[in-house]
Amino acid sequence: MKKLIMIPLLMLTFLSMAACSNPDTEPLNPEQPEQPENPNDGNDPDDNPDTPTPGGNGRYLVLFASRSGNTERMANEIREKLDCDILEVEPTEAYDNDYNAMLERSQEELAAIRQGNYPPVKTSIESFDNYDIVFVGYPIWYGSMATPMQTFLHSHASKLVGKRIALFATSGSSGISTSVNEARNLCPDATLIERTLLLTSSSLSQMATRVSSWLEEIGANREEPEVASLKMKISVADRTISATMEDNAAGRDFLSRLPLEVTLNDFNNTTEKIFYPEPALMLEGVTRGCAPVPGDITIYVPWGNVAIFCKKWSHSNDLIKIGHIDGDGISALTVGGDIKVKFEKQ
Ligand SMILES: Cc1cc2nc3c(=O)[nH]c(=O)nc-3n(C[C@H](O)[C@H](O)[C@H](O)COP(=O)(O)O)c2cc1C
Repeated sequence: MKKLIMIPLLMLTFLSMAACSNPDTEPLNPEQPEQPENPNDGNDPDDNPDTPTPGGNGRYLVLFASRSGNTERMANEIREKLDCDILEVEPTEAYDNDYNAMLERSQEELAAIRQGNYPPVKTSIESFDNYDIVFVGYPIWYGSMATPMQTFLHSHASKLVGKRIALFATSGSSGISTSVNEARNLCPDATLIERTLLLTSSSLSQMATRVSSWLEEIGANREEPEVASLKMKISVADRTISATMEDNAAGRDFLSRLPLEVTLNDFNNTTEKIFYPEPALMLEGVTRGCAPVPGDITIYVPWGNVAIFCKKWSHSNDLIKIGHIDGDGISALTVGGDIKVKFEKQ
């Protein structure tokens, strides 16, 4: 009975002591770790995936973890330069403001990771499919990649297969190489871009210029990639006609040789106009077989010549279609004899 009375008394004493302590140094009622909405460990990237803050340029994503803001500033610098998407990777349990407590926690988490236990993060992404490059930024903790980013990469490794990853980091003075190896082990099937960017406390002030030159070195910029046109124009006598090439190896090889001036020889009573490209066009992966109609630009495989059909012809497995003359443009070529033509980019 005595014991039963003592317990509430002890609790009251503890609570009133707690209320008098300094909240900056010793949080008395340490906040309970935030429970993930989904009652499992929060490490499954499919749980409530996050949407990055979008930029105008959807080709790049900047992921970052940051406790005291240095890596976050670097991440924002990259985002501004590329006008791209950005997302912070956050631990499920917020970091402690107390530096010593933070050091202790990070050591425990790094030790746990070495045992294969990843501290939970509350950030996940559905897919990286749209991104050409995923930038991954973090502070260096005890020479290693900060733990939340290790967890994130570990839990998203299967989604990062084949993706290009560009690593950046901040530290007091330590190097980045250990964390590069960690990234390689965490995402063995991603492609790590060799050039990384580390800013230490003495080089943080050069952030703007260092970020600019790094992005240039790795070929990341705001410009949309040029979609190579499949169109070309053909000058013949006093007419200019156009053609659309097939999106295959032979069609692209043809386009890469423009401008090209040739004499088309008449073949089989103006059934075809032909010439022999030097060297022969690339045929890797190109589907053979074609029943040509007027305007079709083809390759006759046994001879390696280009044949532009003026008349319909029967199906042949030796023909490969590499393009077609637009509209009624073929009428410009449907004349007897050899004719000079100039193929140019449009
Ligand atoms: C837990 C912890 C461990 C750290 N370990 C190192 C270290 O090993 N080497 C180093 O140069 N800096 C170390 N630092 C300093 C941070 O890497 C550096 O201040 C970094 O810029 C912090 O980035 P942030 O502001 O994005 O959190 C450590 C900082 C913390 C909080």
